Order: sequence, then C-alpha cells, then structure tokens
Amino acid sequence: MSKILIKTPKEIERIRDCGALVAETLERSGEMCKAGVSTQEIDDFVKEFTLKNGAIPACLGYRGYPKSVCTSVNEVVTHGIPGTYVLKDGDIINVDITSILNGYHADTSATFFVGKPKPNASELVETSRQCLFEGIKACEKTGARFSDIGAIISGITEEHGFSVVRDYCGHGIGRAFHEDPLVLHYRQMLPGPRIEQGMVFTIEPMINEGSYKTRTLPDGWTAVTTDGKLSAQWEHTIAITPHGAEILTLPR
Ligand code: MF3
Ligand code: CO
Ligand code: CO
Repeated sequence: MSKILIKTPKEIERIRDCGALVAETLERSGEMCKAGVSTQEIDDFVKEFTLKNGAIPACLGYRGYPKSVCTSVNEVVTHGIPGTYVLKDGDIINVDITSILNGYHADTSATFFVGKPKPNASELVETSRQCLFEGIKACEKTGARFSDIGAIISGITEEHGFSVVRDYCGHGIGRAFHEDPLVLHYRQMLPGPRIEQGMVFTIEPMINEGSYKTRTLPDGWTAVTTDGKLSAQWEHTIAITPHGAEILTLPR
C-alpha cells in the first residue's frame, strides 16, 4: 500500500530552503565540469560547500554509498561514484546533489557538457531536459495523475528515437530521502494516483541514446547502459501548491 505524505506549507518552506542550497551547489559543480578535473574534486567541493552551509550531504553513507554526490559520465545512467576519473572534452556528466537542511531533503541534478558537445550528445541532453520540464507541466493539469508524467516523457523521447530508463524513478521526498510514491518516467497501462496539493516529489527522467536497459557494475552502485551508449538526466524537486507545480530546487 502506498502512502503519499501531504506536506504543510511550513514543511514545503523547509524543503525550499534546502532546495536553494542544492541548486547553488549544483550550479557551482557545473562550473567545475571542465577537461582535466576529476570527479573526486567535484565530490570534495560538494561535501565542503554543503557542510559549510549547515547542511549534510544526504548521499554520504546512504545505504552504504561512499561519497557525497553522484557523478554519472557518458554511458553511466545514474549513481556514478566520484573517484579518479578525469573529465575530457566531449564527455557529458550528470551531477546529482541531495542535501539535508534542518531535517528536510532536496534533490536535484543536471547534465553538463565538458568542452564542445558532440551533436548526438546535445540532442540527448536537450531531450532529457525537455522531458523534465514537460513532466513538471503535466502535474499542473486539473485532475493530473502520476501516470501522466510517464506518458508525456515517453512521447517526447520516442519522437527523438531515444528510450526511457525503467529501472530507476522519481520519488516522494521530505524528512526521508525516498518516500512514496514511485514516479515512473515511462508509459503505464493503468492510471496512477492523483497528484494533489501538498505532495512533494522529484521528477528525474533518465533518457538513453540506445536501449533503455541498464546493468549495475560490481561496485554495487554504478548503473550503466547495457549497450554502452550515452544516457542523460535532469532532476528537480517539486511541490504541488495552490499556484501549481512549484520547482523547489532553484537558486535564490
Ligand atoms: N540522488 C539520487 C536520486 O535522485 C539518489 C542517490 S542515492 C546514492 O534519487 F546513495 F547513490 F547517493
Ligand atoms: Co537525485
Ligand atoms: Co531523486
């Protein structure tokens, strides 16, 4: 049985405060994504900047995850672990940041180009970004259901001949990192629950250049495309308010 928590305006304010911090952390991390920079340097920055701002990196120690941020390069779909890898021109890298501030989580990610993007990479990255924003818009229609998010994202993705990852999804968020509901980014046969005021959740479509299939590396975390082709992702935490679907992970 899924139980979707309804947040008070005060709780949403807390998540918005944390959201502003993760948004700024993400923006600054994006500026670091240049050839010659290692993913460990991004992790060092995220950890230090988060702690300096009175927050906790939510990833660090989460179910045994060893670092403060996820850095997913090229064929890595999600949960790439920062380390010795050095970015090079032509790479794409998703940086995914989640922090805890005053007891509340906020979660956001973006995919950045290192140097000059290759044409296939820029179409993929732009499509995944569009999927996120159209997914957010779908939440604002009267009577919207969670299944509408996957329907719109699948449609956009198919127009480009790309595919939607099925093994990972968006999620409710608040006091916990991952809460109900699961937010699926692909088309479903049955209508999902209604999207209602006070719900706070992420939308985080992972779009693959080739097959939607993923596999996990022996480190237990890094998810890669089975065909070795590129994957891109964008993520925001959003709240359903009387004014619509508000993005909580924006810089102030
Ligand atoms: N931030 C990821 C998400 O969007 C989750 C990362 S969990 C970690 O849900 F343990 F890998 F950090
Ligand atoms: Co995330
Ligand atoms: Co998330």
